[in-house]
Amino acid sequence: MKFKFFSLLALTVAAVQCAPKNDIIRNNTDNACIQLKSLVEASEAGDTVRIPSTFINGEIVYVPTDDWVSGFFAGTLWYMYELTGDEYWAEHARKHTEILDTIQYLTWHHDVGFMVYDSYGNGLRLKNIDGYKKVIENTAKSLSTRFRPEAGILQSWNVDRGWQAERGWKCPVIIDNMMNLELLFKATEFTGDSTYAKIAVSHADKTLENHYRPDYSTYHVVDYDDETGAIRGKYTAQGYADESGWARGQAWSIYGFTMAYRFTSDPKYLERAEKVAEYLFNHPNMPEDLVPYWDFDCPDIPDTYRDASSAAIIASALYELSYHTKKAGYKETADKIIESLSSPAYRAEPGTNGGFILMHSVGSIPHGSCIDVPLNYADYYFLEALIRKGNIEKGLAPVTK
Ligand code: GLY
Repeated sequence: MKFKFFSLLALTVAAVQCAPKNDIIRNNTDNACIQLKSLVEASEAGDTVRIPSTFINGEIVYVPTDDWVSGFFAGTLWYMYELTGDEYWAEHARKHTEILDTIQYLTWHHDVGFMVYDSYGNGLRLKNIDGYKKVIENTAKSLSTRFRPEAGILQSWNVDRGWQAERGWKCPVIIDNMMNLELLFKATEFTGDSTYAKIAVSHADKTLENHYRPDYSTYHVVDYDDETGAIRGKYTAQGYADESGWARGQAWSIYGFTMAYRFTSDPKYLERAEKVAEYLFNHPNMPEDLVPYWDFDCPDIPDTYRDASSAAIIASALYELSYHTKKAGYKETADKIIESLSSPAYRAEPGTNGGFILMHSVGSIPHGSCIDVPLNYADYYFLEALIRKGNIEKGLAPVTK
């Protein structure tokens, strides 16, 4: 059944008004305290601090510092500090942040924006720790080495290693890359050097121009010729098909352009984020609980996996979108997503799920990796969404500087 965005909103507003204000934030924070304390203990047991990414077959999976998800656990602990004011979380967040020290010099992939901004960026924002600005500036320099001026974009992946080497690409850019721009915008704010923000704007403009279909769903990968700027092809890597709507790609898309508006006040970015919202919430395959299937065009729907990580990212973006647009509907939809994720269908019972908060996310089905498991970034954006919700309900901006 095709439902319309605003009729759905009327229903969700009624449902949300029944719950005492902010109880859902308190309840989720209490639950997260139990879960994440056990993950902190597990990850700090032994000689080194390890980075938990997921829980598969009864085992916590840890990743190396150069993995794209390495900053999310530190960021999650910073968010726990923000939610509780308890120094326990700041102390452990700092430990998990500073093991990422070398990432500021990493130049072989684009994800340093996620890795360093979620960890050092949140630490700087909440504790103004000496040296963190410099780490962000160095990371911005490293990320900027991936700018390809003829194409006007940052190259996401290298094509000489891993499975990417088998695709015949020259200069692939993925929609996820929008997320790394936050670190560049911030680096310009700290340093006064406009180079970083100019690169971010150029990348966002090219993404706006080249990554979208007429219905405002986004391709996952656009492959450029970095020497001429020509587009060589449009593909998927983690979605069902080249022409399908991979759910997390759509989530990065709405989040990325809402965030880009925050730094630039450019209305075309806000307009694009709203178009993505229209695509998402009018899609016939968006489930009633608003937790997307892993790909909007997977032919197995409804007999396939949901992706809680996409839902959490979209909820967080919608809180910010509601603030910038001042339009009714976005916040209520985000509230509905948070309600769904807080239910036993997605939120793990305390003491289960390896200490992660949310169940039922999908890493990459085509790669057979992390299917229907917890993911550290689902938890990160879930807590971020709760903070944004709380800020809005206190009359504050959802994103604090
Ligand atoms: N950025 C990789 C992913 O969303 O899976």
